[in-house]
Amino acid sequence: MAILMCRPDHYGVEYEINPWMHVETGVDREKAGSQWQALYSTYRDLGQTVELVDQAPGQPDMVFIANAALVHGSTAVLARFRHPERRGEEPFWREALADRGLRLREVSPAVTFEGAGDALFVSDRIFAGHGFRTDIEAHRELARWFDVEVVSLQLVDPFFYHLDTCFCPLAPEVVMFAPRAFSPQSARTIRALVPHVIEVPTWLARDFICNGVVVGDRLLSSTGVEKLDGELHHEGLAATALPMTEFLKAGGGVRCLTLELD
Ligand code: ARG
Repeated sequence: MAILMCRPDHYGVEYEINPWMHVETGVDREKAGSQWQALYSTYRDLGQTVELVDQAPGQPDMVFIANAALVHGSTAVLARFRHPERRGEEPFWREALADRGLRLREVSPAVTFEGAGDALFVSDRIFAGHGFRTDIEAHRELARWFDVEVVSLQLVDPFFYHLDTCFCPLAPEVVMFAPRAFSPQSARTIRALVPHVIEVPTWLARDFICNGVVVGDRLLSSTGVEKLDGELHHEGLAATALPMTEFLKAGGGVRCLTLELD
């Protein structure tokens, strides 16, 4: 798997667009750098190819590269951010992904879409979130671009404002999710469509453990994920817990810092 990451050279909490962010809470820049580096090194040690995109000054959330686009095959559907605070990232993502030879697609002008933060492949379906950042209209457009079924899921808890904060594909037939972050109907949909689910209580999901990435038989996620060792073991996975405290201050974790390319 090839992965794109963005080194936190200009990272900070400079505005508040989700309930985790408080501008008065200082980010420890050095610690953020070493937490990011630990994730980068873990990917490299596990044999992944990691490419880097430079962080632009004045775009503090660019480190959360998962939101740049949804990439599948040679197609990337670019983000259109909900908040003006992040719209400035869009030209940088367009350029970075075009440079990698991807075919770029965009959702319709008035529609918002926050990339792989709100759209995740599980086997041959896309599970997509709406309610906070991505408009449900974007889901139909994804279905068209990728020619796949899109399952729309309604997010209801502002602390879990992107799908990847509360839903994590672990294998083609296995997902981990935090039921209370979804409308009751959407939680039922997940249980009905996915053969194996690990249900994560809200208190644990608040450590951002659903914001993980599977590499081989490892689930890389935030500290706290080791509490699910038993359930993960049952699915043939082992947890690698990485401290993400500095990124949690902006509402992000392991998966947010990662953009998977096919
Ligand atoms: N501060 C960022 C925002 O609110 C965090 C993005 C987290 N990314 C993610 N894929 N969940 O937009």
